Amino acid sequence: LVVVLDFGGQYNQLIARRIRELGVYSELVSYRTPVSDIAALRPKGIVFSGGPASVYEPDAPRVDPAIYALGVPILGICYGMQLMTHQLGGAVARAEVREYGKAVIQVDTASPLFRGLDAEQVVWMSHSDHVTALPEGFVVDARTANAPVAAMHHPERRLFAVQFHPEVKHTEHGDAILRNFLYEVCGCRGGWTMDTFIEDAVADIRRQVGDKKVLCALSGGVDSAVTAALVHRAIGDQLTCMFVDHGLLRKGEAESVMRTFEGRFGMKVIRIDARERFLRKLSGVTDPEEKRKIIGHEFIRVFEEEAAKLEGMEFLAQGTLYTDVIESGTDTAQTIKSHHNVGGLPANMKMKLLEPLNTLFKDEVRKVGEQLGLPAEIVWRQPFPGPGLAIRVIGEVTEEKLAIVRESDAILREEIQRAGLDREIWQYFTVLTGLRSVGVMGDARTYAYTVAIRAVTSVDGMTADWARIPYDVLERISSRIVNEVDGVNRVVYDITSKPPATIEWE
Ligand code: XMP
Repeated sequence: LVVVLDFGGQYNQLIARRIRELGVYSELVSYRTPVSDIAALRPKGIVFSGGPASVYEPDAPRVDPAIYALGVPILGICYGMQLMTHQLGGAVARAEVREYGKAVIQVDTASPLFRGLDAEQVVWMSHSDHVTALPEGFVVDARTANAPVAAMHHPERRLFAVQFHPEVKHTEHGDAILRNFLYEVCGCRGGWTMDTFIEDAVADIRRQVGDKKVLCALSGGVDSAVTAALVHRAIGDQLTCMFVDHGLLRKGEAESVMRTFEGRFGMKVIRIDARERFLRKLSGVTDPEEKRKIIGHEFIRVFEEEAAKLEGMEFLAQGTLYTDVIESGTDTAQTIKSHHNVGGLPANMKMKLLEPLNTLFKDEVRKVGEQLGLPAEIVWRQPFPGPGLAIRVIGEVTEEKLAIVRESDAILREEIQRAGLDREIWQYFTVLTGLRSVGVMGDARTYAYTVAIRAVTSVDGMTADWARIPYDVLERISSRIVNEVDGVNRVVYDITSKPPATIEWE
C-alpha cells in the first residue's frame, strides 16, 4: 500500500490511479489523518499531493511533522514539495516567473528517482511558489531555467520531492519516475491487478455474507452491473437482483439488462414494471427540480415496497465507487441540480450494506466488468443520469415525448458509433426541446417538435466542451431523425460548453 496524502490539488485522484496502474495498491487519505493512523496502515511509501495553498498562509494545510520520522519513504509533489521544504527548515518563496504548463528540466540521472531516464525531460508544471533553499541534508536532483530546485532528495532519510506533476500524461517520464519511487525506493513488489482484485473481493464477499441472502438493485449502469456480476460470482444464487423499469431508460436498455443478467449469467432478476406509475407521478409536472425529486422519491418507494415482499434479505449490494467515498462529506458546493443515483437507496432499510467496489475508480470498475464477461454495451456505457430520459424531455413528460427522445437518441447513438466517435465523445444524447416550429414535408406544412443534439467532451462531467462532430455526420443524424421520428421537423446542435451551460438541459 502506498498512501497519498491529499492536500486538495486537482490531480490528487490521478496520483492514486497512476500508482495503481503501476501495479501498486494506493489510497488517498486526508492530510488531517493522524500520523498514528497512517502508520497503522503500514504503507510502503507516502506521497504528498499538490494543493492550491501557499505554505506561508496561516491556514495552509499541514501534516504532523512526526510523519518524517516514520522511516517510510515520502515523495512530495508540488505543494507537497513546498510543505516538506518548509517543515524541514528550507525556504519557499513566490517565484518571479510562475510556471504553468510545459517546462524542460535537467536531471541528475544518478538520483534514484531519475535513474535510467533522459538527462533532459519535458514535465508539466503548475505552481507559483518554489523552493529557494534546500532543507538540511537534501541534494538537488533537477532544475529548470526558472526554478533552481525542480526536484530534490535526502539520501539517508529517503525523502523525495518534485515541483512538477509526474502523475499527468504531459510529463514525459512521469510513469517512470513514479515507478522508480515505488519499486526502487519503496521496494514495492507490484502485482495489484484487476485479477487479484476480483479474487480478493470474491473471498471478502463470501466471508462477509456467509450463507445469508443479498439484494442488489440493477439500474442498467456499469456500477450496479459490475457489483451484481461480482457478487454473483462470489455467492451465486444467494443473490437476487431487482430491476425497477421506470420507463425512462434508453431504447433497448431494459432488454439488454435482462438479456445479460437473466439470460447469460442465469441470475435471479426481478423486473418491476413501474412505467405507468412513474408517468402518472410525472403527469403535469414541468419544473426540472420537481421532476428530479419525484423520480428519486418514487424510485426509493418502489424499491422499498418490492423489497418488503422478499424474505430474508440481509444485505443490500450497492455500486458505490471510490470517488463517491472520497467526495462524500467534502462536498460543500452549491446545488446546481439535485442528482439522483439509482445506487443511492434509502439509508433506513434494515439491511447491511455490501459495497465491493468502494475502493475502485471508474476505469478499474470497467476492467473488472470486462474480466467478469459483461458485454461492452454495459461496460462502456456512457454516463447516464438517474432520472433518465425524463430530464431530456423539456417540460412535461408524456409517453409520446419519451418515444421521440428514445428514437432520436437511438439514431444518434447508431451514427456516432458508425462514425467511430463513440469512445472519443464523452456523452451524447438528444433532447426534446419544448419548442415547435413550422416546416415543410412533401409539400405540406408541418408544425412539429425541435430535437436538440447534445454531445460533449469531458473528463469527469464537471466541465465540458461541445464535441466537434464532423458536419457530414451531423447531417446524417439530422436527416435520419427528421425522416424516421414522428413529430420532429427540425434538429439543432447545442454548441455551449459547461460552464456556463450544464451538460443535461434540465
Ligand atoms: P450536468 O447536467 O449537471 O451533468 O452538467 C453532469 C453529468 O452528470 C450526469 N447527471 C446525473 N447523473 N444522476 C446521475 O447519476 C443525476 O441525477 C444526474 N443529473 C445529471 C449528466 O448526465 C452528466 O454526465
